Amino acid sequence: MSTNLTKRDFAKAAGAAAFGMTTGAPLAGRAQTSAESGTKPVQGATFPDGFSWGVATSAFQIEGAVKEDGRGASIWDSYAHTLGKIRNGDNADVANDHYHRYKDDVRLMQDMGVKSYRFSIAWPRVFPNGVGQPNPKGLDFYRRLVDALLEAGIEPFPTLYHWDLPQALQDKGGWQSRDTAKAFADYAGYIAGQLSDRVTRFFTINEFFSFVDIGHRGAEMTVDGKKVRIEHAPGLKLSNAKLNQVRHNAVLAQGLSVQAIRANAKAGTKCGPADNLSTAVPAIETPENIKAAEIATREMNAGYLTVILEGKYTDSYLAATGKGAPKFTEDELKIISSPVDFIGINIYRPSVYVVASERAPGFRPIPFNKSHPRMLSLWHLLGPEAMYWAPRQVQSLWKTKEIYITENGCAASDELSAEGIVDDSDRVMFLRNHLAHLHRATAEGVPIKGYFHWSLMDNFEWSEGFATRFGLVYVDFKTRKRTPKLSAAYFREAIAKNAVV
Ligand code: FCB
Repeated sequence: MSTNLTKRDFAKAAGAAAFGMTTGAPLAGRAQTSAESGTKPVQGATFPDGFSWGVATSAFQIEGAVKEDGRGASIWDSYAHTLGKIRNGDNADVANDHYHRYKDDVRLMQDMGVKSYRFSIAWPRVFPNGVGQPNPKGLDFYRRLVDALLEAGIEPFPTLYHWDLPQALQDKGGWQSRDTAKAFADYAGYIAGQLSDRVTRFFTINEFFSFVDIGHRGAEMTVDGKKVRIEHAPGLKLSNAKLNQVRHNAVLAQGLSVQAIRANAKAGTKCGPADNLSTAVPAIETPENIKAAEIATREMNAGYLTVILEGKYTDSYLAATGKGAPKFTEDELKIISSPVDFIGINIYRPSVYVVASERAPGFRPIPFNKSHPRMLSLWHLLGPEAMYWAPRQVQSLWKTKEIYITENGCAASDELSAEGIVDDSDRVMFLRNHLAHLHRATAEGVPIKGYFHWSLMDNFEWSEGFATRFGLVYVDFKTRKRTPKLSAAYFREAIAKNAVV
């Protein structure tokens, strides 16, 4: 069962980096660290003391063991087993087999030197029917995982919802029903009550737009002149009015879960959402454009973070939704905006570049040029500046006291060489540039407490299946052997220096 993950694997990746090796000679011994080689971090770009360096995963993408120990089915099990939905007909029945190999995976993180780990709890593992009697064996798995992390000196950051809604709840209307928001709060309160003796920080819900809009409508974009459709489970195509109600139910679930966590967890337990903030970046850095970008970011997130943090839908959101506006009460707005302790933001790219405009709403979007560079995924336009602007705007718009970068990373065409090395030069470039912009934000006093790289290891990338690799660690999906990539060695070095390297 052991995947034989040793410091040697890292040394191998780092050694290959140090000597510019892509082929050939076996590497003897341990790689030099930059302290030994006398190099300094880039322009002394160090992060604040106690900065929490982490990696992230989610339950459905890595656990496997979908029928074990009483786990119930989730909407992603059903979706993945629907013909034609997942690239190459993949499914996540076994995935990374993390359910059985979690100790090896904790060791992997320990070898990388990470301080924190963001994983998700599978709701249907703990409540196979979404509500009712909890399944003790399901909860036990997360207790064991948390214990292994604590023993390794890694802080656990569980996410309570990373899209794997119990199928039993979908059968009763899923997120179209307000009852699902209530069921989520009950589940969140239960987990907080059970785990807050050893977990201090919980993320509530991951990426509203992804499971709400992409799951209940789908999204279309044009790439290289071709239309591409993206879809997530449950794969619905709702009308505007119904979709807006699902959005509302999702933010209601956020607020209700915060209240349930406060009611059930040990004093001092903290929580907040992990959202993929749509970020507008000023095309040219001037005071007017900076302001314009803030206006744009606030409006683009009106249905999610803006209503959560301001307790009301913006006028332009309600005007734009018109007859399809969500139905809600004042009381619900109060629940939705229940105060959170921190905001997690997943940052992959800018949503748009803007310049100021005298016309309402105060900004002009700049379309991405056709030749704008992108990473491997079709949606993944490159714009590391988002890593500076997103947290800065969150602080400036909502006076947030604690911000976590809960995801950032990229897919790459990683291949294992005959020597057992994965040289992901593009991911290292991506990481270095994003960390440089993140550093700019921390240096200016934006209260960013930590950064989680997506992902610890290659995994089941939703409708892309196993074909799209986001990991710092390569996974052979036949043998499930894990091999740290060059980027894992880079990340280890950045963590060791607490700096951009
Ligand atoms: C995010 C998801 C995560 C993973 C990355 C690549 O949108 O939260 O599960 O799919 O993208």
